[in-house]
Amino acid sequence: MKYKNLVNGEWKESEKEIKIYSPINDEELGSVPSMTREEVDYAMETAKIALGGWRSLAVVERAKYLYKAAEILERDKEIIGTVLAKEVSKGIKAAISEVVRTADLIRYSAEEGLRSVGEIVEGGSFEAASKRKVAMVRKEPMGLVLAIAPFNYPVNLSASKIAPALIGGNVVLFKPPTQGAISGLLLVKAFHEAGIPAGVINTVTGKGSEIGDYLIAHPLVDFINFTGSTPVGKRIGELAGMRPILLELGGKDGAIVSDDADLEKAAKDIVSGAFSYSGQRCTAIKRVLVMESVADKLAGLIKAEVEKLTVGDPFENADITPLIDNRAADFIEGLIEDAQEKGAKALTQIKREKNLLWPVLFDHVTLDMRIAWEEPFGPVLPLIRIKSLDEAIEICNGSEYGLQTSVFTKNIVQAFDIAGKLEVGTVQINNKTQRGPDNFPFLGIKGSGVGVQGIKYSIESMTKIKSIVIDL
Ligand code: NAP
Ligand code: G3P
Repeated sequence: MKYKNLVNGEWKESEKEIKIYSPINDEELGSVPSMTREEVDYAMETAKIALGGWRSLAVVERAKYLYKAAEILERDKEIIGTVLAKEVSKGIKAAISEVVRTADLIRYSAEEGLRSVGEIVEGGSFEAASKRKVAMVRKEPMGLVLAIAPFNYPVNLSASKIAPALIGGNVVLFKPPTQGAISGLLLVKAFHEAGIPAGVINTVTGKGSEIGDYLIAHPLVDFINFTGSTPVGKRIGELAGMRPILLELGGKDGAIVSDDADLEKAAKDIVSGAFSYSGQRCTAIKRVLVMESVADKLAGLIKAEVEKLTVGDPFENADITPLIDNRAADFIEGLIEDAQEKGAKALTQIKREKNLLWPVLFDHVTLDMRIAWEEPFGPVLPLIRIKSLDEAIEICNGSEYGLQTSVFTKNIVQAFDIAGKLEVGTVQINNKTQRGPDNFPFLGIKGSGVGVQGIKYSIESMTKIKSIVIDL
């Protein structure tokens, strides 16, 4: 099937197209256009034209389109979930729940938008001359938001940009991940069917490596909202110039396990955090820092949980499914080989069939190994044995990333003390690292990002203040 881009209210093909195959079995799923620069210009121009009408609508009017789009997503959750599962090799249950989660996110964005109003500020609290002054502080849209999303949540992490942008009065130019583009276009189809005015959402498909720079540098773009890898995020930071950006990037989330932790719970949470969606989550637990005194016991508990994981077909809800492509599998295999060469002990089997990798648990990982520091974005988990919690904090803070960290301890005062010292956006106490729920602030620092997502925070990021002052 030939999928098309939504531009100015019409579905449009391009001369060139990109065929999309499933990472599960190479099934041809369809094709998406490979947009030219001229077509991008038209998409940008028509979005900008639509901005005036869209931003002048009352928030409650904009909210109606979001509620309707959410309703349509719920209606089509199996259809979209099935495409999503095939396109990014995600378990069918998780794929459908991603669509449902997205409908919730869109509804909540509408509600949050209705709460996100301006304020009146009086000057009376300053010197006498100001006591007659009143400021009407209004929230206005940034304008044209360029939203770029990653493959691993092609519906949810697209809507997490689009919905808050729209309710804030912005128009959106949406670039889905190429592997995930069909799912992204089906998300936009729901907004189109909801009747959203022409040009308010325009889509641009095409390889980021070919069209990315042109999109980022485009003069009609007022705000860039990007989720993806750190190298691309850094490139965007260079090209953005004076335009505001919101970047959610890579991570190397650690799990610190104290000697007083509930090890059974920690093992279950760590395995879920590390291996859900085959580790292809920015918030996946990507290293465990465990006190030496409990390391043997924890390693045994984690090993037992890993060996329960099923491997295979996303449509049989296997826990571990084929990775997004062979290039990803090759990269992860390189990390595994490096760890083995340097003396790490594999506690589980090391096995690969094309882009399907069996989950690997390494013990006795040392800081000279690549797996201790690099983001695998795959099913491999290193255990690093530590002698003190201060050592764990130092290792975590030595990362180029700063997304999340889990802390497992029964001593809550100690947990908060550790949390205060960690250079990350979020600390999870006695739980796995995770983005949800979607109304929470979600952010990375250092190489993990710039700015704050999370519905209310996304709306604030993509709106700006205008102060209108009058002397009464
Ligand atoms: P990616 O390769 O950076 O791609 C992300 C998006 O950027 C895709 O739509 C991609 O298009 C586009 N892109 C690629 N090159 C570009 C360029 N030069 N200019 C503009 N856009 C460009 O990341 P991914 O492989 O999809 O996702 C995996 C990475 O993203 C991991 O590092 C993961 O940690 C991170 N991630 C972070 C979060 C978070 O919330 N912090 C969430 C998910 C993923 P194409 O698909 O056409 O290449
Ligand atoms: O990598 C995607 C990131 O947003 C993870 O989301 O909900 O699986 O923690 P979640």
